[in-house]
Amino acid sequence: MAFPPRFLDELRERITLSQLIGKKVKLMKRGREYTGLCPFHHEKTPSFTINDDKGFYHCFGCGAHGDIIRYMTDCEKMPFMEAIEYLAHMAGMEIPKATTVSPERKAEYQTELQLMEEACLFFQKALFSERGKKARDYLKSRGITAEVAKSFRLGYAPSGSALLAYFNEKKLSVAKGIQLGLIVQAQERKTQHDYFYDRIMFPILNRRKQVIAFGGRLMEKGEPKYLNSPETTLFHKGEQLYALPQAIETIRKKNQAVLVEGYMDVIALHSAGFTNAVAPLGTAFTENQIKLLWQSCDEPLICFDGDTAGRKATIRAMNRAIPILVPGKSMQFVFLPDTFDPDDMIRKKSPQAFQEAINNAKSLSYTLWNSLIEGRSLDTPERRAKLEKDATELIEKIQHEKVRSYYLKDLKQKLWQLEHQQKTNKRSLSFREAQTITKPKADMLEGRMLLAYLICYPQTAQNFIEDISDLHLTENVMQSMFSKTINLLIENPDITSEQIQKSVLQDKPETFPEIEMLQKSNRNQIDVQNELEKWIQAFRFKALQNEKEIKLQEFTQNPTSELWNQIVNLKKEIEKLSTSE
Ligand code: UTP
Ligand code: MN
Repeated sequence: MAFPPRFLDELRERITLSQLIGKKVKLMKRGREYTGLCPFHHEKTPSFTINDDKGFYHCFGCGAHGDIIRYMTDCEKMPFMEAIEYLAHMAGMEIPKATTVSPERKAEYQTELQLMEEACLFFQKALFSERGKKARDYLKSRGITAEVAKSFRLGYAPSGSALLAYFNEKKLSVAKGIQLGLIVQAQERKTQHDYFYDRIMFPILNRRKQVIAFGGRLMEKGEPKYLNSPETTLFHKGEQLYALPQAIETIRKKNQAVLVEGYMDVIALHSAGFTNAVAPLGTAFTENQIKLLWQSCDEPLICFDGDTAGRKATIRAMNRAIPILVPGKSMQFVFLPDTFDPDDMIRKKSPQAFQEAINNAKSLSYTLWNSLIEGRSLDTPERRAKLEKDATELIEKIQHEKVRSYYLKDLKQKLWQLEHQQKTNKRSLSFREAQTITKPKADMLEGRMLLAYLICYPQTAQNFIEDISDLHLTENVMQSMFSKTINLLIENPDITSEQIQKSVLQDKPETFPEIEMLQKSNRNQIDVQNELEKWIQAFRFKALQNEKEIKLQEFTQNPTSELWNQIVNLKKEIEKLSTSE
């Protein structure tokens, strides 16, 4: 059912968002905004803000964002119609009778689609015209063939308000162009200009393959790298997925979708034969998008970038899905190495490498558990109780009773295992350690040497910092010194060895004889550079071997094909490292 837009606007005007949310969340006024603990995720310090003037809430922690209606449907879990009734009652307003779409609106809609189509054709032509040379070269450099560019209808938006000129020439409605976010009306001056210029254009299609919006990428460095069409009557970001119309057939056929972060990832995957890839559109993955995928497959694979931002997005996607899980519908998570995104995997590694990553996808429950225990120490009853509490709180968010009860059972079992493991080990350990206890700490020598070099030669260390910041030393004390050193090096590029030693060793140099040894040895810069590189490699090698050993032992107790795949992959990585030496 469609409401006249004025009705919804009035509803938003009459109800103060902070009052509505204030019923549930304790709010504090800060300037023109309110802040409080976010009702959409669990947190201890407030990152949830409300702006009454704008009528929006936004959480900087989990990305929840919306207006009064969104709040009722997402937080209070009311169906849309019920939410409208509730809010209308609160505002003392009558709900207007169901409006059918008027013939005028239908005609308008058709005109809008036509204009978008015109714009798309214009951009496509521009790409293959003279002024599109730079754009064509760029696409080539990113491995996109003309054929693929055509099938995704990629284009080029020239600079100099070329689209506006085209609109004028063809007598197309500039006013509509403004409404559709193609043309911008400058506020002070009465001039107009193009919204997209000098960008590679990615048209976004609806399910009938009609153009409803664009994303545009700069070819050089600059901000924003990607510009997306604003929300318009045709385009609602949170409810569409890039390339879904092209991917839907494969998704249905394979009962599998791959959700990636970006336009480029989608295109690289489709070109490599993974024609079930889709992406959200410049926003966090929404509940609506999850449900959209569930209409055509059971467990979409979430495959975000291997960097920190990607891993955070993975956790957010998981938290989005948890409340709405139903029997048979879930997600799986694909983790990519280091800083790789799917596009890199295909181009710098191989389509097979990406397929292997997919084969190693982790279930939601596994990922949930891992994210809960990661970095926690579980060596006291209080700490283990806290783990249980946090885990239970998360699981309680699952609305479906059956699914929730299975998750609780699963949790009980895992906690039991953990307790059991702790007892047999006699020592209380963090989970990470508990996993590695079976083996001596094989990377000890390499780890210590690596750290000694970082501490003694901070200037040289700067060259490697990005490459090594995610390494993990198995020895606890060493790891904490390592991460401290890395942080110091990042915070202060000019830091001296003395300063690091002072802060990291806390005046107990005897704990680290390697440092003294290095200092006495008077090395030149080239040597240091080479040796450091060697130790990094040696460390990685040991760490992989170590991991393989542990997994092999685990395999003898718990032989699963998943574990075996991991072992095989580790073997391959080790081989690769030893041949590249
Ligand atoms: P990335 O920065 O990971 O882009 O953002 P990418 O796809 O890897 O791009 P390339 O490989 O550098 O070309 C992922 C997605 O986030 C959205 C876009 O949808 C992008 O594809 N995004 C990113 C924006 O909307 N605006 C931005 O400024 C950046
Ligand atoms: Mn990326």
